[in-house]
Amino acid sequence: MKIALFAKDWDHEIWAQRIRDELPQAEVRGPHNLGNPSEIDYAFVWKPDAGFLQSLTNLKVICSLGAGVDFLFADNTLPNVPVVRVVDPDLTTRMSEYVVLQCLLHHRRTLHNLRAQTEKNWVPHDDVAASEVRVSVLGLGILGMDAVRKLRVMGYNVAGWSRSPKAIEGLSTFHGTDGLDAILERTDILVSLLPHTPETDGLLNLDLFRKLASSGPLGGPVVINAGRGKSQVAADIVTAIQTGILTGASLDVFEQEPLPADSPLWSLPNVIITPHNSASSSPRATTSYLARQIRLFEAGKAMESVVDVSRGY
Ligand code: NDP
Ligand code: OXD
Repeated sequence: MKIALFAKDWDHEIWAQRIRDELPQAEVRGPHNLGNPSEIDYAFVWKPDAGFLQSLTNLKVICSLGAGVDFLFADNTLPNVPVVRVVDPDLTTRMSEYVVLQCLLHHRRTLHNLRAQTEKNWVPHDDVAASEVRVSVLGLGILGMDAVRKLRVMGYNVAGWSRSPKAIEGLSTFHGTDGLDAILERTDILVSLLPHTPETDGLLNLDLFRKLASSGPLGGPVVINAGRGKSQVAADIVTAIQTGILTGASLDVFEQEPLPADSPLWSLPNVIITPHNSASSSPRATTSYLARQIRLFEAGKAMESVVDVSRGY
C-alpha cells in the first residue's frame, strides 16, 4: 500500500511516522520523494498544491487531514474518487472547548478584568446569568451540534441555523436565507462554524452585524468565527468594532493566514485573535481515524465520513 502525504506547513516526518504506526504495511511518500505517481493508492492531504491529486492517476481515496474540505473543492482538477474527512471526537471536543471558552470570555468580561488587573484596579461588576445570553450557532453539522450541546450545558439560551431544516429537541432552529434574519435578531453572541462555500463567502459582514440584537445584556453583540476566514469581511469587523455595532469578537480564521502583522484586527479592543488552532488536527487522533477508514475501504466496507461532493462542503 502506497500513501502520498502532502500536509502544507505541517511537520511531515511526525505525520509520516504516525501513518506508518497505524498502517505498518504502508509506504509513505511525500511530494519530494513521490516516485512513480501512478503507484499511489491513497492520499493524506492538507492544502496540497492544485493539480497534485490529479497527478496520482490510480488514486483510490483522498483523506483530508482536517474536518474542512474547502481546499479540495477549490482544486478544479480534483479526481473523482471518494473523499473522507475527519469526524472524530478529539477534533470536535477541541472546537467545543474553544466555543464555550470564547463565549465565557466575552460574557464574563474577562478582557475588562485583565485590563483592570494590569492597572491594579479593583472594578467589581455583576455579570448576567448565562440563561440571559442568547447564543446562536451558524452551522449545525458535526462541530455546530457538539458546540450547541455544550453551550446548553453551560446554561446559555442557544439557537442554531443550518442550510436544511432541523428538528432538535428543545432547540430553536432556523434555516436557509429566509431564516437568517430571524436568528440574528435574537442573538447576543453569534458563533460561526460554517464551511466556506459560495453561499457563505463574506456572509459575516456589516449588513449582517447590524441585524444582531443591539440591546442585549452584553452591551452589544459579539461575533465568534472558527469556521473559515473567507466567510468574514475583515474590514467590516474593524468598522463594526470601532463604531460599537459589535462589542467584541473572537476570530480563529482569516482570509489570509498567517494574519499579516499590519492587519488592524490584531489591535482592536475586545477582539481575541487565535492562530487557526481552535481545533487542530492531532497527528495521533487524525491518523488513527483515517487509518480506520482505509482499513474499512480495503475490506470492501463503507467508510464513515465520505464527503457528499454534490453538497459542495
Ligand atoms: P459539517 O459539514 O458537518 O456541517 C456544516 C454545517 O454548515 C451544516 O449544518 C450545514 O447545513 C451548514 N451549512 C453549510 N452551508 C450553509 C449555508 N449556505 N447556510 C446555512 N448553513 C449552511 O461540518 P463540520 O461541522 O464538521 O465543520 C464545519 C466547518 O468548521 C468546516 O467546514 C471547517 O471550515 C471549519 N473547521 C475549522 C477548524 C478550525 O480549527 N478553525 C477546525 C475544523 C473545522 P446542513 O446541516 O443543512 O447541511
Ligand atoms: C479543519 C481545520 O478543517 O483545522 O480541520 O481548519
